[in-house]
Amino acid sequence: MTDPAASKASPSRPARVGESGLPIKPVYGPDDLAGWTPASRLGEPGSYPYTRGVYPTMYTGRPWTMRQYAGFGTAAESNRRYHQLIEAGTAGLSVAFDLPTQMGYDSDAPIAHGEVGKVGVAIDSIEDMRLLFDGIPLDQVSTSMTINAPAAVLLLLYQLVGEEHGVDPGRLSGTIQNDVLKEYIARGTYIYPPKASLRLVSDIFAYCQAELARFNTISISGYHMAEAGATPAQEIAFTLADGIEYVQAAIDAGLDVDEFAPRLSFFFVARTTLLEEVAKFRAARRIWAQVMRDRFGARNPKSQMLRFHTQTAGVQLTAQQPEVNLVRVAVQGLAAVLGGTQSLHTNAYDEAIALPSEKAARLALRTQQVLAYETDVTATVDPFAGSYAVEAMTDEVEQAARSLMETVEDLGGAVAAIEKGYQKAEIEQAAYQITRDIDGGERVVVGVNKFVVPDDERYEPLRVDPAIEEGQRDRLAALRANRDAAEVQARLAELRSAAEGPDNVLYPMKRALAARATVGEVCDALREVWGVYTPADAI
Ligand code: 3HC
Repeated sequence: MTDPAASKASPSRPARVGESGLPIKPVYGPDDLAGWTPASRLGEPGSYPYTRGVYPTMYTGRPWTMRQYAGFGTAAESNRRYHQLIEAGTAGLSVAFDLPTQMGYDSDAPIAHGEVGKVGVAIDSIEDMRLLFDGIPLDQVSTSMTINAPAAVLLLLYQLVGEEHGVDPGRLSGTIQNDVLKEYIARGTYIYPPKASLRLVSDIFAYCQAELARFNTISISGYHMAEAGATPAQEIAFTLADGIEYVQAAIDAGLDVDEFAPRLSFFFVARTTLLEEVAKFRAARRIWAQVMRDRFGARNPKSQMLRFHTQTAGVQLTAQQPEVNLVRVAVQGLAAVLGGTQSLHTNAYDEAIALPSEKAARLALRTQQVLAYETDVTATVDPFAGSYAVEAMTDEVEQAARSLMETVEDLGGAVAAIEKGYQKAEIEQAAYQITRDIDGGERVVVGVNKFVVPDDERYEPLRVDPAIEEGQRDRLAALRANRDAAEVQARLAELRSAAEGPDNVLYPMKRALAARATVGEVCDALREVWGVYTPADAI
């Protein structure tokens, strides 16, 4: 029986409220798990509802994949960084593309000026993709690509280069983010209207089922919504609601749920509020398992498993006293691991200032290696199981997330809610509250509003050479001068015709890319047929 006095906040210190707005009791006890039994709420690791993790052995069998998001400048420069990361011990690659590539424009498009190679690598054609993966054993590494609206294009370029490396397409492994719904909500790299975007996602599911069986077809993301201000409950609720929309669209397109669902994956943030984050991950697995089994009738256990990648919270990094970020990232990384992530990116301590320097990127990876090889968190599965506090918090976050998912359902589902601006408005409200709490001092940010130092020693950030844009333009001019223009035009016409009809667009798209059509030309061909998305509030 918990001492009632102990469960009241002491006068000097009010009870904490978690990131989801749920109170955190100073003391939890048996009463907080009244009626709760492991069998009814947890299941075994690797068994439905996967609260304790998707694999029976989790890290005791294999550590999570250390997968550092990286990419900048030219394909050659990024290729060098990938070799550095592989030498430093990373097990999986994660490609960052520059904004023009993410938006389906070539480096020589007027709109691309000033952004070429800036926040990621510039990829305009198969020739750049060859350079990006030069010397990388594509039959041994898995490669994630953070690409959404043009996801099909980069996936096919990856397959074409894999085939040139002599790797059977069915052995290529990796993930494309391919989650355009969260782009409408929080990130912005969308191109086509929702209906055409969902069609393209279903075409990718069908194509991968037939041609790239080991590729994860989507990384349904809550990370960017969290970075925009979403609370943990909103993060998982809006992400899973997007997932429901994708699953329904694929079923409506005639696909079998137990064929495509095992290759769905997710992507969440890890905040410094470790206990609530662990609860969040456990709640998300349990909700998704139940949705897939009961709403979509999925019977394949792999269809019910929520496998996810985690990135530590970039928005919690500070430019002030940047070395303090090493501590934040270690705590956030620990939260992801205690929460059962399958793949992890740890941010570099200088990322609030600029792209990570090579030393900072290596330290970020070393943080994961300390967690994996010096601590005992890989020795046992889901160590928080049965904890009064974390199990109670898991239930509370689950209930809050389910309630938000019901609201989205009442609005007609994720797409309808997006078109009403619901998720965006909720996240903006949450972000506003965070800013107010920081400005008011209720939320301590060490080095920013407390424990500040008068001035920081100058920090020399990594800068991307603006001459890269010129170089990419020259490469594109050479490519266009040395290809069979008539064949490219014929392939693009085939693509437009497929986009106008019901056929899977990835097959003609692959032929166009093999003929050295550029990323921009392929995306423009679909723009001509499907148009582009203009948010209601932009009209
Ligand atoms: N027991 C049994 N099998 C196990 C196991 C265990 N304990 N651990 C792993 N395995 C098996 C798995 O079943 C899998 O087998 P398969 O290849 O046949 O499927 C294999 O080992 C690999 O394990 P995982 O699939 O768990 O790990 P991966 O790392 O390969 O995949 C993922 C993880 C989450 C499923 C995948 O989708 C992934 O890698 N996602 C990464 C996404 C990413 O990096 N995104 C970056 C976003 S950055 C961004 O958005 C931009 C910026 O704004 C933030």
